[in-house]
Amino acid sequence: MNTEVIAPSSQKIKYGKAPGPTLKNSISGLVKHPLNFIYQSVKEYGSVVRIPMYPHATFIVTNPESVKRILKAEEANYDKQVRTYKKLRMFTGDGIATSTGETWKEHQNLTTPSFHNRYMEGFAENFAQQVEILISQWDSFYQKGMSLDIVPYLHKLSIDIGTKTMLGVDSSNDPALELQEAMGFIFEDGPKRIYGVNPPLWVPTSRNKKTKKAIGVMDDYIYGLINRRLESGEEIDDFLGRLVKGTKRKQGFLVDKQMVRDLTVNFLFGNRETSGNMLVWMFYLLAQNPEADEKLYNEIVTVLGDDVPTDQHLKKMQLPYAMNVVKETLRLYPTAPLLLRRAVKDDVIEGYKIPADSEVILSPFMTHRDPRYWDAPLKFDPDRFNAERIEKVPYFAYFPFGAGGHICPGKNFALLESLIALVMIRRKFKIELVSDPVTLIKEPALFLQPKGPIHVRLVPNK
Ligand code: HEM
Repeated sequence: MNTEVIAPSSQKIKYGKAPGPTLKNSISGLVKHPLNFIYQSVKEYGSVVRIPMYPHATFIVTNPESVKRILKAEEANYDKQVRTYKKLRMFTGDGIATSTGETWKEHQNLTTPSFHNRYMEGFAENFAQQVEILISQWDSFYQKGMSLDIVPYLHKLSIDIGTKTMLGVDSSNDPALELQEAMGFIFEDGPKRIYGVNPPLWVPTSRNKKTKKAIGVMDDYIYGLINRRLESGEEIDDFLGRLVKGTKRKQGFLVDKQMVRDLTVNFLFGNRETSGNMLVWMFYLLAQNPEADEKLYNEIVTVLGDDVPTDQHLKKMQLPYAMNVVKETLRLYPTAPLLLRRAVKDDVIEGYKIPADSEVILSPFMTHRDPRYWDAPLKFDPDRFNAERIEKVPYFAYFPFGAGGHICPGKNFALLESLIALVMIRRKFKIELVSDPVTLIKEPALFLQPKGPIHVRLVPNK
């Protein structure tokens, strides 16, 4: 049925109600396995899917032109006042990832400079040191003839990299381990709370008590760090130091500790599951694609020899195939698979009305696997990112780091981290899967991660 509406441009246009699943199917699908539900809905109903939620419908949008409209061209009409982020705030506070308007701009001004190019050289040195530690641990597994599950090791690597680089903390010491455990619990608990129906946090259920305890441990740790810095009077030039200084300037002389805490949590969360899982998927894919793996190894030994990789290798594109491996991994496994927005005013997408206050789900996971934009989309083919091939793909068919104002501020940090871990680990070991590959994705989860362990055998390179 087509109906006439007034579009935001005041032009009269025609629209139909977008197709989609029933309310009953939507609720059970979203609670149990949201990503699979979204995947099946897109396959069945097309590039705009309407999910009948209360009080406003939610739309899944996957066409690159529409993604561009929402993230960039009409970005002012799509904010982050969505149900999920409201729930997420119980953990993250009101930080950059969930804030909007003036508050978000202020958060951006306080944090973006910490990821400026001039810090990349220092980041690279730190990343390489942390990867060396991992390699020596893995070497002892090899010496003992043991296989290992790479998942916890690569998660820990990216956590160590994050806490060391942003907070100046060595996460192998005890209190930092407590922080990691608390964050680990929150990452298990968070998706169940976000997608499911739960009593509010003040109700004293045993799960609520555990959640509050984890939030308390995280807060004590971060506020403790802030207080120690203030007491010592030492001005350390790192992410935390710049936040302390920045919020102090804003208030005259008092530091806005709550804002420092919220922004720190946002960045620790932003880094934690995205980068670590990205490394997991990368080695998982390479282990199943021996040709690509061999090509990568040859490039590494030719370009690097025994040298330590630096930020210059990324900036000057000196390891092009390795970079393509990183990009292709993020195409197949964009570790932030769902981006959420709310329409502020009515809009029209591909002829369908998106009423004000509806939520919109964009999914790099779906768009990156769409055969209309990608040849053989399920094939791991790093060469598809060579200039002559990628220029034929619509620009917004690939957005693992988002786009527009909210584009991931940790993008270059993550790319450098991935490149350094990839080349240093692969130069040392060839990684072989011990058991048959399983591609099961954990659900419900906020980030894309494997459901179970990934056991590998390490074969040192001669
Ligand atoms: C492979 C690794 C990563 C991927 C795939 C990734 C992906 C993304 C995506 C898609 C967004 C946009 C979300 C949206 O528009 O709603 C985003 C935002 C964000 N990311 Fe990342 N990210 C990665 C690594 C990192 C790292 C290393 C950090 C911190 C150092 C970080 C911190 C953040 C923050 C704070 C935001 C919110 C920005 C805002 O809303 O203005 N991310 N990330």
